[in-house]
Formats: sequence, structure tokens, C-alpha cells
Amino acid sequence: MTDYDDLFAETAASDSLFVDKRALDPLREPDEIVARSEQQQQVARLLNGVHEGYLPTTVSIYGPPGTGKTVTTRRVCGEFAARTETFAVEYVNLKECRSLFSAANEIHLELTGTKRGAYEGLDGVFEGIWEALEAYPEWTVLILDEIDHIQHDSNYDPNDFFYRLLRGEGKLKRDLNLSVFLVSNELLEVDLRLDSRVKSAMDGEEVFFPPYGVALLERILRPRIEQAFRDGAVPDAVFEYGVREAARRWGDVRKALRLFRQAGETATERGLEAVTRECLDATIETTGKEAVTEKLLALPFNHFLVLTGVTGWTERPSGEIKQPVTTSEVVASLHQQNLAEEFLLSERAVRELVTDLETMGLVDTWVDSRGREGRVKQIETSFDPQWVRDVLERYVAETEQVDPESVLADPDVGS
Ligand SMILES: Nc1ncnc2c1ncn2[C@@H]1O[C@H](COP(=O)(O)OP(=O)(O)OP(=O)(O)O)[C@@H](O)[C@H]1O
Ligand SMILES: [Mg+2]
Repeated sequence: MTDYDDLFAETAASDSLFVDKRALDPLREPDEIVARSEQQQQVARLLNGVHEGYLPTTVSIYGPPGTGKTVTTRRVCGEFAARTETFAVEYVNLKECRSLFSAANEIHLELTGTKRGAYEGLDGVFEGIWEALEAYPEWTVLILDEIDHIQHDSNYDPNDFFYRLLRGEGKLKRDLNLSVFLVSNELLEVDLRLDSRVKSAMDGEEVFFPPYGVALLERILRPRIEQAFRDGAVPDAVFEYGVREAARRWGDVRKALRLFRQAGETATERGLEAVTRECLDATIETTGKEAVTEKLLALPFNHFLVLTGVTGWTERPSGEIKQPVTTSEVVASLHQQNLAEEFLLSERAVRELVTDLETMGLVDTWVDSRGREGRVKQIETSFDPQWVRDVLERYVAETEQVDPESVLADPDVGS
């Protein structure tokens, strides 16, 4: 029989550097929003429009990950609602919504506590939304978070979705004062290719959340690090180094919190008295890789394929991956992979895919005029090229876009 006293004693972290690790949980609401006074003021000013009889139909709240968009928007709206009888706020996260219908249904769920059946269609769901809003206070803000996750699907166009939300007949008929706060990483009209009809129905109000710099990140992190770690477990110089690296690399609170948590775990494992720079460096190396791996696994097949071409050249004696490469080298490398015919990409297709990859931040390109061939575009990955090879097997195993068996012209050759 297991002796549970022993079991727990054996597995307890001895001399842990943490006293309250929860302080580093990014999902935990901070007691106080710091360092976002400008954005808080912008949102507050918009909300105060209620006292003058006006709320914009839409407000775009955008900026890179971990810059406080969600936490700030919810907090300011919530505090305003608590002080204003004629105002209500509802929050819906659309991250998991796979279709526009499910996005609308998620809003329905938040407002009514129930979902509609698929047979009722988008019309039915919107009708339910308007009916529910009739019972709301005079002014309502609907925060739609991670709205950039909704995608064109075969049944509905996002333009149609937004048009209904902003100008829907049921809404106009009932004269509802609904304002939609759209939270996303990119400006939506660009990201979702909204048409002019929808754009003209949007109010063009924008609140931008830039990445955090060193000073702001330091103010946000200091109280949480103090709460999470034992006294003296994160020396000032190490804290400052970590903050600087986090600001330079990401400007993202969530990643910065994870950096310190993992570095603390590493230090504890190594039996150190305090977190060191090396612990931070070791963590940066792996978090970087984790983040890139996630991105790589989510890529469409052709994009991933091009990356295998970009990283397909090896410097012979050392075995090191050769970078940068040119577009024709990428194409040549793909041809060497013994791919089935339908997977072969033309030089033109490769060029377009490289442009996409550059937009996603996965490759850097520049034109080099010194080469033998005159002005030639040089391409290299923005991360360690070995990571593409490391993730290859997982990509093939996990992606549902291709049948692994069908990728190679002759599966037995070239492996
Ligand atoms: N100004 C801030 N003051 C205090 N804590 C903050 C601040 N900004 C961010 N945080 C912390 O970072 C976490 C992440 O912030 P938040 O979720 O608001 O980012 P986001 O911009 O919405 O990111 P994403 O684009 O990934 O959704 C918050 O839960 C909070 O703990
Ligand atoms: Mg968010």
C-alpha cells in the first residue's frame, strides 16, 4: 500500500524559491491596472458619451498579445457599469468559435443563458440577441474579444455578420443603443477584409495598445514577482535583466510572467539560492522555441512546405543549415524532396508564400545586390532554422490538411 505521507513528502519541492506562484498566473486578474492610463482615459471618455446621449457603434481595441487589452477594457467598462444605472456591459470571447454562427450563438448565450439550434440559422440567433437586449438598460456595450479568430466559413461571410450586428433590422426596429467593442491583435478591417458597407457602419474609434517597454513592464511585474518569490530569490540585477529581455523580445506581460515562473522553476530544480541570469537565458531559449513551434504547427501546408525549402540547404562539412537562401534555392530544395506532383510549387507561388511568411514574422528577406546573379532576394528564418526540422514529424502527424502517405511521390524513396 502506498504511504501517502511519504509520497507527498518525497515529491514536495524542497527549498522552493516560490512562496506564492499564483501571482505569476497570467489568467489571474491583477488588483490594479498599472501603466495604461492613456488607454483607460480613452475608453472612459468614450463611455462617458452615455451622459451626453451618444456611444459609438464600434470601437476597435487592438495591439499585440499580452499588452493589457482584455484586462483594461473589461475593467474600465465594468467600473463604469457599476456607477451608471443606464449602462450595462457584456463580455464574450470568440476564441473557440469555429464559425460565424457559433460566434453569434456565443453572444446569445451570454445575453440569455441559452443557445439556439442550428436550424434557426443566423437570423434566429440575431433575433434572439435583439429580443434579449430590449430588456437591457438604455445603453449596452458588448465586448467581443479575440474577434480576429472568427473566419470566413462556407455559410456566412464576416461582412454579413458585422452588418447584421451593426445595422441589423431587428436592432434598428427596436432602436437599441448597442456599442460593440472589438478586441483583436490587428485592426479588423484589414484582417477580415471588411467591405465598404461594413466599414461605413463602423465608427472608426480606435484604441491602440502598444507593446510594453522596459519601464512599464517593470511596474507591472515588480509587485507580482515580490509576491511570488521568497525574499531575495530574484536579485535586482536579475529582475532588471529579465524585464529588459522581455521588453526587447516581446513587450508581452504574459510571456514575461512565464519567463520568471520557468526561470524560478529551473533555479529551484538546480538547488540554487536565487534565480540567476543563466536560468533566464535557458528559459528564453525554450520559450522562444515553444512559441515558434506552436506557430509552425498551425501553418497551412504550403507555407510549412516553403519553410522546409528555406531550411533545406546544408553546409556540407558542418551539417549546419545554410542561410540565407534565394527563391530559386528554395524551389530547388523542394524539388529534391521527392514530393508528389500536386505538392510541387512554382517559383511564383513560392515568392507569394514567402511574402506571407514574412508578414507572419517567420522569415526575414532583403535584396542583396552583391551576389553573382545581380540583385537577388535573400530569405532566412527569423528563428533557429533547425526548429523547422525538429517540428517536421509532429507537423506531418498532427496536420489534417494532408495525408502523410500522399506527400511523397514514392514514400520509400528519399526518407
Ligand atoms: N497594465 C497592466 N496592469 C496589470 N496587469 C497587466 C497589465 N497589462 C497586462 N497585465 C497582465 O497581463 C495579463 C495579460 O493581459 P491581457 O489578457 O489583457 O492581454 P491582451 O492584450 O488581451 O492579450 P491577447 O491579445 O493575447 O488577448 C493580464 O491578465 C494581467 O495579469
Ligand atoms: Mg486578450
